Amino acid sequence: MAKVTDRKQTKFLLDEKDLPRAWYNIQADMSNLPGPPLNPATREPIKPEELARIFPVALLEQEMSRERWIPIPEEVLDIYRLWRPTPLYRARRLEQYLKTPAHIYYKYEGVSPAGSHKPNTAIAQAYYNKEAGIRRLTTETGAGQWGSALALACQFFGIECRVYMVKVSYEQKPYRRLLMQSWGAEVIPSPSPMTEAGRKILAENPDSPGSLGTAISEAVEEAASRSDTNYALGSVLNHVLLHQTVIGLEAKKQMELAGEYPDVVIACVGGGSNFGGLVFPFLADKFAGREVRAVAVEPTSCPTLTKGRLTYDLADVAGLTPMLQMYTLGHDFMPPAIHAGGLRYHGDSPLISMLVHDGLVEAKAVDQLPTFEAAVTFARTEGILPAPESAHAIRAAIDEALAAKEAGEERVILFNLSGHGHFDLGAYELYFAGRLQNYSYPEELIAASLARLEAMARR
Ligand SMILES: Cc1ncc(COP(=O)(O)O)c(C=O)c1O
Repeated sequence: MAKVTDRKQTKFLLDEKDLPRAWYNIQADMSNLPGPPLNPATREPIKPEELARIFPVALLEQEMSRERWIPIPEEVLDIYRLWRPTPLYRARRLEQYLKTPAHIYYKYEGVSPAGSHKPNTAIAQAYYNKEAGIRRLTTETGAGQWGSALALACQFFGIECRVYMVKVSYEQKPYRRLLMQSWGAEVIPSPSPMTEAGRKILAENPDSPGSLGTAISEAVEEAASRSDTNYALGSVLNHVLLHQTVIGLEAKKQMELAGEYPDVVIACVGGGSNFGGLVFPFLADKFAGREVRAVAVEPTSCPTLTKGRLTYDLADVAGLTPMLQMYTLGHDFMPPAIHAGGLRYHGDSPLISMLVHDGLVEAKAVDQLPTFEAAVTFARTEGILPAPESAHAIRAAIDEALAAKEAGEERVILFNLSGHGHFDLGAYELYFAGRLQNYSYPEELIAASLARLEAMARR
């Protein structure tokens, strides 16, 4: 890549011909991999044929693969071309506002039709399901970002899509629902009376606001009960993070254009997909001996990596999914209704969990109010109104830039702006009205949830 020499250059753009042709599989380079998924009934490693009830074989192979590079099918690349490569920006106006010597860069994934990074894997998943002869996909969605990405992908490949949307988000975000409907998906508030898992939760608490764990149970139950239907997950699993590595692979080329290499790479973490997407290709350099820090940012209201435990836990509430080895707050953890719906998940990607455990990735939790403050600062300097999830990465990037100022050092900071916040204006309205609060999940509730998990492990 020829370096750009214009001192005012703000956008670093790649051509369509520079699109990555293969995804980067970090499993090829990690010396300490997470343990295999377990069958919740037997606690034995789950057999591929058990998972084949809900996932196509091609995705299961990617889940386990140790190949470093996995080719991206042409049909997927053709759709990526609609918005990829995404731009890399130098946040010059934010730097000036902060009066920091740091150079701040951000990769902007909000230019996809759905407004976030989620279509990078939705397109791939819909493609492999279509190839396997599947006619319907079910999924869950929190903030609505993943549901809209899958609705879009299913529309492109002519597959029916049913989305179980966490009830609190369904009520808070009618416009995301309408976007999914525009792309042809059916959207059901979860918990719903349509599945056994949903009926059980409604019987215990008719006013349940729902959670990602519950919505996953509903979507998996339906997929497992029909041969024409599979399930698609928007985060956490290895193949999902794999598909997202197009973000970091492009960003590396773009940083080359800028003639810089990041000292620190930052992304928010819900289940870990945008973090893995941006950061894993840089960790490949770290494995090869290059210095680079990686920071995973989560909300204090759902502090999985900073306060959870690394152990085997269920990925959903009803226990229909395999047990994964990951940092978890316990699968019955019911997060408060904070306004970053996509970060309200009790677990985290097993790959990221191991990397945090082994000290290759730092984890940091930030409060809701400073996060919104950072989001507004970003909107007023750079112009883009970020998704509340992405604002967690902005908060951490600003903190790094202020630390560089304090130290008088010209550090290079790269973060992922995983989506725009145009469907999150309700949250901004509450913030401007002074009606949002900080919320640290109470230690004793975390301890109680983890104790229940331990009791389950002894059964
Ligand atoms: C814009 C945005 N960023 C981040 C996330 C968090 O998910 P993940 O950790 O898988 O990137 C979400 C989840 O919905 C999201 O919508």
